Amino acid sequence: MKAVIPAAGLGTRLLPATKAQPKEMLPVYSKPIIHYVVEEAINSGIDDILIITGRNKRSIEDYFDKSYELEFMLQKAGKDRYLKQVRKITDLADICYVRQKNLKGLGDAILSAERHVDGEPFTVFLGDSITQSEVPCAKELIDVFNKYKKSTISIREVPKDKTCSYGIVDSTNIKGNLYKINDLVEKPKASQAPSNLAITGRYVLTADIFDKINQTEPGFNGEVQLTDAMSKLDELYGVKFTGKVFNIENRIEWLKSSIDFAMDDDEFRDDLIGYMKSFL
Ligand code: UTP
Repeated sequence: MKAVIPAAGLGTRLLPATKAQPKEMLPVYSKPIIHYVVEEAINSGIDDILIITGRNKRSIEDYFDKSYELEFMLQKAGKDRYLKQVRKITDLADICYVRQKNLKGLGDAILSAERHVDGEPFTVFLGDSITQSEVPCAKELIDVFNKYKKSTISIREVPKDKTCSYGIVDSTNIKGNLYKINDLVEKPKASQAPSNLAITGRYVLTADIFDKINQTEPGFNGEVQLTDAMSKLDELYGVKFTGKVFNIENRIEWLKSSIDFAMDDDEFRDDLIGYMKSFL
């Protein structure tokens, strides 16, 4: 299955950090956000990746491309550890790119992938969200999709007062972590939210989504919302994700995610804990 990673957005909520660099290239601890996203796709068994980019997003392509000068300099200086790291990035996957011409929202971004996915079901990974779990979030979705052959999305519980930050679903539990989605609403106020189950940023979609997007008028924020297009699908399933999700939409989520990943690093964990204690 192919992966589509929308990464064309402006990253307004992270300005000025995103003024001259893509949000998806901001480092979370040691790597750019999009590096984690591409790794999740690979760990889910995907090797065909399309990144949807736009103006000011060239550094994403450069990042996954071979860097002859850097490799030469590192080799000459005998910095083998860094050389290995740099080469590993280039070897991660073959990545294609397409530009979203006008920034008209996530639904519109997905339309740019229509030719590449060529009528087949495909996965979508939001380029600004990282997931962490034993079985990759997208792999869980692909397994469910292979059984039901219907569009399937990842959902997770969020605090009731945070529904206005997410797409929220109205759903019926089928069994275990599997849900049938009855309806979806983009960023509802807590009082109008049908539940506290939010869309996580990982999807497996069938190609009929493209017609549904074309039939969708601009919605929340004047953008063509993927959530609104998905609500037009005949059948949609949800898989409740219980791992960690880092949706790096603003400064605090960016900072928290960096701390989380730093805490996994044996080399610097104690140093970080000591530093944090100095604030208590
Ligand atoms: P977001 O809405 O969280 O990102 O979209 P944004 O638009 O960059 O952020 P703000 O609202 O301006 O702060 C989730 C993902 O979808 C991509 C973004 O790049 C991000 O990775 N996206 C969003 C597109 O590719 N195109 C769009 O038109 C909108």
